[in-house]
Order: sequence, then C-alpha cells, then structure tokens
Amino acid sequence: MNNMKINFCGINFKNPIITAAGTFGSGKEFDSLIDLNKLGGITVKGVSSKAWGGNPVPRVAETYGGMLNSVGLQNPGVDAFISEDAPFLKKYNVVKIVNVCGHSIEEYVEVIQKLNHTEVDMYELNISCPNVSEGGIAFGTDTKLVGNVVSAAKKAAQKPLIVKLSPNVTDISEIAKAAEGAGADALSLINTVLGMKIDIKTRKPVLANKTGGLSGPCIKPIAVRMVYEASKAVKVPVIGMGGVLNFEDAVEFMMAGASLVAVGTASFINPLSIVNIIDGVNGYLYENKINDIKNIIGVAE
Ligand SMILES: Cc1cc2nc3c(=O)[nH]c(=O)nc-3n(C[C@H](O)[C@H](O)[C@H](O)COP(=O)(O)O)c2cc1C
Repeated sequence: MNNMKINFCGINFKNPIITAAGTFGSGKEFDSLIDLNKLGGITVKGVSSKAWGGNPVPRVAETYGGMLNSVGLQNPGVDAFISEDAPFLKKYNVVKIVNVCGHSIEEYVEVIQKLNHTEVDMYELNISCPNVSEGGIAFGTDTKLVGNVVSAAKKAAQKPLIVKLSPNVTDISEIAKAAEGAGADALSLINTVLGMKIDIKTRKPVLANKTGGLSGPCIKPIAVRMVYEASKAVKVPVIGMGGVLNFEDAVEFMMAGASLVAVGTASFINPLSIVNIIDGVNGYLYENKINDIKNIIGVAE
C-alpha cells in the first residue's frame, strides 16, 4: 500500500487531493455522485460576513481550454453557512476548509471569528477580493495590503490560516513572502487569471461585468510556474491549483512544490474527476514504486 497521507499545518489529510473553492459548493451538490469521504479535503465556496448577491448575468463564458467567470462570490453569508452547510459537512471524514472573502479587513475578521466556534479545520483567505476602502484594488496585488489583511486574519484565527494568492501580479514571490511574513501558515495558488471575451456580432464583452476570471487547463502552465516560484520563496507549505484535469497534472503540481493539489473547473466538466485523480495518483505511486507521496514534493529542480 502506498502512503498517500499528508500532514499539512498539523492537520492530517488522507490524500493530497482537495476541491478548489467555488467549484464544489459545500459538497452537497456532489454528494449523490461521489463518495465525499474519499477526498483529502473539501474547500467550500467563499463565505462573507453578510450575503453577497454576486454580479449581473451573463457571468460565465467558455473559452479555448477553459472558462471565464464573473460570479462575484455570490453566497448567503457566514450565518447561513454555519446553520446549513456546517452540519452537512460534519457527517464526513474529510478536512474542512472554508474560503473566506471580504470587502474590508473587518469583514474578513468577522467571518473568521464566527467560524472559530465551528468544526471547520482550516481557513483559506481569498485575497483576490476588491478592497472597498482602497478604491476596489484587490488585497492580493499589493504587499502592504497583503500584510495588513493577513496579520489581522491570523490574529483572529484559532485554526491554521492558508492565504490564497492572486496570479494577477508581477512578482508572485514578493506577495508570497509578504503573506508568510504576516503570519500565513500556508499558501494556496493560483486563483483565476483576469481575462476578457468579446462577441464580434454584438461588439460587446460577453460578460456583463466585462472582465472575469479565467480557469481550466489553459491556465495550468502559468499556475505550475507560480507554484514553483512561490514554494521556492517561502518555508510554509503550498497548495497548488489551476487547470488540474487528471492525475498527471496533480503529480506535476506536487513536483513543482505543492504539498496538496486542488481540483476546480475539472469538476464542472466531469464531477467524477476528483475521484479519478485520487485513484490515478495512487496508481502512479504504485507503478513507479514510490512508497510515500511526500517523496515527490518539490523534486523538480
Ligand atoms: C465558478 C468559479 C467560482 C470560484 N469561486 C471562488 C471562491 O469563492 N473563492 C476562491 O478563492 N476562488 C474561487 N474560484 C477559483 C478556484 O478556486 C481556482 O483557484 C481557480 O478556478 C483555478 O483552478 P481551476 O483551473 O482548477 O478551476 C472560483 C473559480 C470558478 C471557476
């Protein structure tokens, strides 16, 4: 039997494959299709302090090898998460990670303080959200803003704090170091890449919001490069994601330096993807006589 177990920030994962925020709801939608107990962990969609209505439609568009979305982190808020989703998740033996979003530092802190009293295992801070008091610039694109939001979140958090980085920056190593310096226990990357699509018949952007986040296999080489750079820049462990479709992709992210790998858009293409990836990684270890999955983390030099 191969060892697929990973200890990540003191939390035991039965395997390194988890869901990516916003692509798996809180698991309910997938419950009748796959055995949720097989997953290493579930990262639930972004949760904010109050309900967010999201952006106007159309807010999803297909592209070559991927999709654009401008859903805008629509969610019913942290109180609804605690009363409806947390009791559902409690039944499953998987690591539970809540993706936290906010328009201000106070909003992030409020969500974390409320979740401290639940059975959630870890927080993932989505710093791609627009900072309202700084004119809408995303927290994750400026080292000072990253430092401020991460240190406030870390102070509030009674569980390990993962900071999810935006790829829409010039130097990911600098942002990774700022997050680590402010107290991040781990990093995850990448979030979606800012993109745009224009309908040449209507001569208008396809998305009502004009721009959106690009995800899926088309972003994978960008993601692998950024995971490689970020994991070299920091000492804390890293979760890799961006376009993972099959077990080969997951192995690639681990060789680039990721200790865990998240599956996102692939779950829209085939809801069984994540389970196939877990089985595929296990088969890869067996065929290549690798006893412990930890032996492939960061081997690509
Ligand atoms: C429809 C949709 C909703 C998403 N919602 C969130 C979210 O709530 N919080 C977050 O941090 N990332 C969110 N993401 C980003 C994904 O978690 C992931 O970082 C990104 O899609 C890259 O991975 P992928 O190519 O495997 O999908 C969302 C992505 C999609 C496609």
